[in-house]
Amino acid sequence: MAVLLTGGAGFIGSHTCVELLAAGRDVVVADNFSNSKPVVLDRIRKISGRDFVFYETDLRDADGLRRIFAENDIDAVIHFAGLKAVGESVAKPLYYYSHNLTVTFELCKAMREAGCGVMVFSSSATVYGQNGKMPLGEDSPLGPTTNPYGETKLMQERIITDLQRAGELRSAVLLRYFNPIGAHPSGLIGEDPNGIPNNLLPYISQVAVGKLPYVKVYGNDYPTRDGTGVRDYIHVVDLARAHLKALDYAARKSCVRAFNIGTGTGYSVLDVIKAFRDASGKKVPYRTVHRRPGDVAECYADPSLAAHELRWKAEYGLSRMCEDAYRWQSMNPRGYEEQ
Ligand code: WQD
Repeated sequence: MAVLLTGGAGFIGSHTCVELLAAGRDVVVADNFSNSKPVVLDRIRKISGRDFVFYETDLRDADGLRRIFAENDIDAVIHFAGLKAVGESVAKPLYYYSHNLTVTFELCKAMREAGCGVMVFSSSATVYGQNGKMPLGEDSPLGPTTNPYGETKLMQERIITDLQRAGELRSAVLLRYFNPIGAHPSGLIGEDPNGIPNNLLPYISQVAVGKLPYVKVYGNDYPTRDGTGVRDYIHVVDLARAHLKALDYAARKSCVRAFNIGTGTGYSVLDVIKAFRDASGKKVPYRTVHRRPGDVAECYADPSLAAHELRWKAEYGLSRMCEDAYRWQSMNPRGYEEQ
């Protein structure tokens, strides 16, 4: 019996693939390389010492999906595939709604036809909208989201929930990620954003290796300890391991349930810059500029439900996240581009 990872060549997907292979699971990966590179597949094989089945396919292609289920004995799906750039989603809403929802519709139809009823869905804390009281619990109010990307996550959560309630899925777990950062300790896989990074950590790490001149700190007048934005950063390996716990939970149950996957600790932008300097020994020059539209002051999790129900808890702290992120960046200054 195998686990299908849609978008399994991406940042979170590749790290989850490594953990599944290490746990002895058989894995099938489907990816169209729209936000990843083929070289990551061999990096995964090198780390895990195991092979897995791979399909280069656009998941909106119903025949391609049908073929994957026909050729493999798939008993569960971890659904990562989707467009995820917040800013791009604001500029191209039709592209985002059409792509992300069509992928999920086609996947769920193929799962139903194949009799595969277990899904773990890659969701996001962005579904909580802007007004949540911290720390965020799974019962915190959902929405209004601040961008089409976040809205597609909320819509997909609703679609999956309704399918499970109607018996068209047996069991589903919705994992609401906070801020995944870091890299596998081998330095062989990590975060490789297209173009100039939107997110803080990859931006800092590119400044540390001299690819970018300085970090722009988006605002220092927030009502936080040092005035800069506070987020719940979580090591991508901790996040990957949460997916294995979620698979076990979904396989045992017949329900749909959401879990916050964070550490429960908020760190400011300046905390992260300092931690990265300490971890890398590198200067990380920064300048404070205007706030970024759509940003909130604080966003961090109450992860106690995942601890209780999934028996999962984050192990790694901010220093380890920065050490591993720097090792990846310094070993791969141009990411996965041909060396
Ligand atoms: C973190 C903090 C910024 C960049 C986003 C998505 C969310 C999820 C995670 C997918 C904020 C500040 C950032 C920079 C800065 N993605 N910052 N300078 O916005 O919390 O979440 O990524 O699921 O959906 O919204 O992450 O890393 O962009 O920002 O000062 O160059 O760093 O203001 O306070 P964010 P981020």
